[in-house]
Amino acid sequence: MSHFPALHTIEDLASFYRRYSVATFTADEPLYTVICERVTERHDVLEIIAAHDIGARQPNLLLNAIRFLTLQDPASGLAEMLTGELTEEVGERFCDLVVARRGEVDHLLANQRTQTNEVGRAAPLVLAFADVAASVSEPLGWIDLGSSGGLNLLLDHFAVTLVGDDGSVVAEIGPSDSPVNVRCDVTGVVSPPPKPAIAWRMGVDRAPIDVTNPDQARWLEACVWPSRTDRLERLAGACELVRRHGVEVRPGDAGGLGQIIADAPPDTHLMITTTWVWYYLDDVTRAAAFDAMASAGRPITWISLEAPGVAGMPVSPSQRDALRADASALIRADFDGVRPVPEMALLGWAHGHGTWVDWTAS
Ligand SMILES: C[S@@+](CC[C@H](N)C(=O)[O-])C[C@H]1O[C@@H](n2cnc3c(N)ncnc32)[C@H](O)[C@@H]1O
Repeated sequence: MSHFPALHTIEDLASFYRRYSVATFTADEPLYTVICERVTERHDVLEIIAAHDIGARQPNLLLNAIRFLTLQDPASGLAEMLTGELTEEVGERFCDLVVARRGEVDHLLANQRTQTNEVGRAAPLVLAFADVAASVSEPLGWIDLGSSGGLNLLLDHFAVTLVGDDGSVVAEIGPSDSPVNVRCDVTGVVSPPPKPAIAWRMGVDRAPIDVTNPDQARWLEACVWPSRTDRLERLAGACELVRRHGVEVRPGDAGGLGQIIADAPPDTHLMITTTWVWYYLDDVTRAAAFDAMASAGRPITWISLEAPGVAGMPVSPSQRDALRADASALIRADFDGVRPVPEMALLGWAHGHGTWVDWTAS
């Protein structure tokens, strides 16, 4: 699935950069808007970008590449990429650095893609897991499909704080001394969820990130915008937990989900999670993964946190009107192991990064 318009000329590329950066960065990372604006005026930089395939021309990727090089070598002359500070001439110096380090930039644009692993999504998952645990008698097994670095597989080691409308704490879940603190504003949550009890877990990803490898961890860090210190702190803490406890993330395509399901212990109630993964799958892969869940011959619960409508749940126009632009749908789909179509329930809406959850299920 391509999310990029056809970019036939340098002028097309410049106008794409301008439109994308204004829409994406202006509110939350103005430094990146300023940099992209200067890129649109620098033909030498646009030529470097245009030499790459269409997927590599996404503005985030060039920004991530320069942030990666700066994280690797903080003395490389663009401290703003570490702090997010908006300074004079930063766009010009950014472009000069792209040109000066063209070999490394080319390598990163050709070989990397924007990769995120958002630990804040643990909060909606903890709520969804409580919903599943309350409805089954077996211990929970879990496949996190599109797991990236597998950070959320350790969500039972996170300190998750759910905060109600009035600012009072609804629940504190997980060890209070965890290096990962996830705070989530909730509405509609009536009973505090327990800490998830996971008997078996496994991640799968087409391009898994091994966060115990410093360069791979640095790339994940580079893909988080510099001003998002909250996300950066959680990311660092979750990488620390992976180093302590380890996680298993198998390389594999979502279309091969059937094989992973076959390896899951039969005495567990198996949950499959997709958090901002289904969105990226083409129709053929979606159908293969869906069939794998439907034809597994065992009950499976699929929990998805995806853009509205992406994971198959119909979203009525009135719901859509009520949505904030950044809301994802939290959906539970139960396959009974016999019928091909699951029973689906909208559990609620959540911010795409899990900063708030509006729980609507009873
Ligand atoms: C936006 S990231 C989300 C990662 C993680 N689920 C999270 O919530 O932080 C999407 C992930 O899906 C993975 N992915 C994309 N297409 C895939 C496929 N066909 N099979 C398996 N993983 C895929 C990517 O490699 C990436 O790690």
